[in-house]
Amino acid sequence: QTGLTTLDYGFVNTASTASAITYIDGDEGILRYRGYPIEQLAAGSSFLEVAWLLVYGELPTVDELADFTERIRRHTLVHEDLKQLFGALPYHAHPMSMLSSAVGALGTYYEADVDDPEAVDLATIRLLAKMPTIASYAHKKSLGQAFLYPDNSLSYVENFLRLNFGTMAEPYEVNPVVARALDRLLILHADHEQNASTSTVRLVGSTKANIFSSISAGISALYGPLHGGANEAVLEMLAGIQESGEGVKKFVERVKNKEDGVKLMGFGHRVYKNYDPRAKLVKESADAVLTELGVHDPLLDIAKELEQTALEDDYFVSRKLYPNVDFYTGVIYKAMGFPPRMFTVLFAIGRLPGWIAQWREVNTDPASKIGRPQQLYVGAAKRDLPAR
Ligand code: SDX
Repeated sequence: QTGLTTLDYGFVNTASTASAITYIDGDEGILRYRGYPIEQLAAGSSFLEVAWLLVYGELPTVDELADFTERIRRHTLVHEDLKQLFGALPYHAHPMSMLSSAVGALGTYYEADVDDPEAVDLATIRLLAKMPTIASYAHKKSLGQAFLYPDNSLSYVENFLRLNFGTMAEPYEVNPVVARALDRLLILHADHEQNASTSTVRLVGSTKANIFSSISAGISALYGPLHGGANEAVLEMLAGIQESGEGVKKFVERVKNKEDGVKLMGFGHRVYKNYDPRAKLVKESADAVLTELGVHDPLLDIAKELEQTALEDDYFVSRKLYPNVDFYTGVIYKAMGFPPRMFTVLFAIGRLPGWIAQWREVNTDPASKIGRPQQLYVGAAKRDLPAR
């Protein structure tokens, strides 16, 4: 039927798929990785244990986790030549652009035959091991500081913190509060069913493209402010409210009037039409981490006032708009010392095991076919060129 536009159809840009990895109930606010509730994993697991669970489907034994951790440790170094890539990029490049470029380039160093389980396992280890190192290069590049080498005497998260905040000039002491909080935040980001970036990884992977190129595509999708880039946009929003002095109420009115397309960043979700269970857990962390770090950030107070105002306002309640995972994470990352432009990079590090698990699900299923989202044609009916 012509004359309609794509906006007349509520399912533009959707495609359906089956997966055994993550379950979400958007109405009940439920999130489970391989059947385990996110609340239990956040409270009692570790990021590498959750990574194993997502990739292999079961919790690892003590020996499996120890071997997995050790194999990752042995692959944290990045090929010296890959550093040259950063030399070619401008210092002001966004770390997400640097990350997607460098992860794509990783694939030029390693053959990863999608049909060879051992090669895929090794690529899994290499990605989990090297992405934090590469992420720290992007951070150091933006600071104009020398890149550090990994210290394999540290844990996964401790190593990442040192690579970002250590310098060549002095020893770096990891704060255990920060390390534990970051490990928990990475768990909360580890997978989320068929979100835009994961669907991107699956679609690219379904063509039998190598895993490094597929993950690089996922990083690019996550970069967008409607997706992973929202955690950086939330902090800009909070800082804007603080600096303008307009106050929460005035800002909320601007959002409701849709002035200049302004949105309440960190609110709303394609699936959750209830409170995002991760947001609840992040909010708890925010209070605990800032208190333990002795940080009082007025932006956290603004965030809480915003949330309270929105949850009592029918405009948001009627549209089922609640805080999502991105609403409070930025305040914690800022307290940890990360600049806002690194927030989405942290999201990508957390999401990596989910992307890998979903890529493997597509590529190890013999029945899997190349992806091709459905389309409903709403364009012009057949017509002929005018006589010339
Ligand atoms: C992530 O999919 C995933 O799982 C993603 C993720 C993951 O773990 O991978 O959970 C991570 O991306 C979380 C989302 C982060 N993005 C943001 O916080 C950006 C702000 N949120 C919005 O852009 C929006 O809520 C989306 C994109 C997240 C969801 O968009 P929807 O479900 O398509 O909602 P919609 O655009 O159809 O909006 C419905 C109504 C509209 O109002 P009306 O036109 O009916 O008047 O709600 C309004 C929208 O204008 N609305 C908002 C709003 N989100 C929706 N109004 C103000 N502020 C918002 N944030």
